[in-house]
Amino acid sequence: MMSQHEELSVIDRAAAAQGEKTLDTVFLQLIDSNDIDAILQQYPQRPAQLMQLASHASRAAFEHQDAEALRQVHQTLFYAYHAHLAEPLSCSSRNQYHPVLLQVRSFLESQWLASEKRRASAHGSLSPKNIVAELQALWKNHAVSAHALFDFLEHEANSQQLYYFFKSDSALNLLFFDLVAMTLVGSFPETRGEISQNLWDEIGQGSNEFTHVNLYKDLLQRRGIDLPDDHYTHLYDWQGLAGYNLFMMGGVTRSHYYKFIGMMAMTELLDPSQYEKLVNGSRRLGLSERDVHYYSEHISVDVDHADGWLNNVIVPVAERYPQAMEEIYFGARLRLQTCQDYYDNVLRTLKAL
Ligand SMILES: [Fe+2]
Ligand SMILES: [Fe+2]
Repeated sequence: MMSQHEELSVIDRAAAAQGEKTLDTVFLQLIDSNDIDAILQQYPQRPAQLMQLASHASRAAFEHQDAEALRQVHQTLFYAYHAHLAEPLSCSSRNQYHPVLLQVRSFLESQWLASEKRRASAHGSLSPKNIVAELQALWKNHAVSAHALFDFLEHEANSQQLYYFFKSDSALNLLFFDLVAMTLVGSFPETRGEISQNLWDEIGQGSNEFTHVNLYKDLLQRRGIDLPDDHYTHLYDWQGLAGYNLFMMGGVTRSHYYKFIGMMAMTELLDPSQYEKLVNGSRRLGLSERDVHYYSEHISVDVDHADGWLNNVIVPVAERYPQAMEEIYFGARLRLQTCQDYYDNVLRTLKAL
C-alpha cells in the first residue's frame, strides 16, 4: 500500500479555495471534501455548473487547442484518476465512485479520446498475423520514436537540464509497477505469465534493492535531487498531465483495457533507443554506471518486454477477440501522440532553462 508520503496528488487546498471557480478547482473541492453530499445538498446547482464548466473547457481545449483549457481538463482528470491510488482513508478515495464526479470524468475522457482519434491517420486492416508488424511499423514511422529531446540530452544538455528531465520523468517511472499490476487484473489467462514476468522485473526479481522504483529513487538521491510527495507532477503542464492520465485512464477503466495493452507495448518499444541516448548524455555529464542503473537496465530489459507484450499478450488477445485489434492499435497511437506532445514540451522547457 502506498504510504501517505507517496501520495501522488498535487492537491493544494489553500490555492484551490482562494482561486477562481475553474473546472479543476471546483472538481478538486468536491473530490477532496469529507462530505460531498452535504455540499451538493447545500448547492444543488453544483453538478450542473460543473458539467457546464466541463463542456466549456473541453470545447476550448479540443476544438481550439486553448492551453489553459487543456490544463484544466487534464488537471481535473488527474484528480479523478488519483482517487484510484490515493491513501485509502483519504477523502479522495472515499469519493472515488461518486456519480457526479464520474459523470465529469467520463465526459472529459470521451471528448479527449475523440480529439485524439481525429489526429490519427488511417491504417490498413489488422489481423493476428500482421498486428505485431503493424505496431512495430507504427512505432518506427512515428516522429516521436527518434525525438530530438534525446539527441539534445545526449549531446547538449547541461546538468541542470538533465536533472530537470529526471524530475519530470519521476511520476511515471514511480507509477510503473502499479500500471503493470493493473494490466494483470482481468487479463486473459494465457497472457498472465508474460505480464507477471514484467511485474517481477519491476520488483527487481525479488531483490528490494533493485526494484525499479528503488533504482529510480537511488538515482535521485545520489544526485541530490529531492523527491517531493507529488513526484514532481506540479511541474507538469497539460502535456505531462495527459501522458500520466493516459495510463491511468487505461488502468482504471475496463472498456479501455485493450488500449492499455497497446500503450504498454509502445512504451517498451520507445524506451530502449531513447534511454541509450539519455545514458550517453548522463555519462558525458559525469554520472556513474550506478547513477544511471535505472535507465541502463531498461535499455536491455525493455527489448524483451516489448517482444513479450507484442507476441505473448497482444497476439493471444487478437486471436481470441479480433475486434480488440483496433483498440490495441489506437492505444498504441495514443501513447505515441501524447508522448510527442510531452517530449516537445519538455524539450522547449529544457532549452528555456
Ligand atoms: Fe521498469
Ligand atoms: Fe519494461
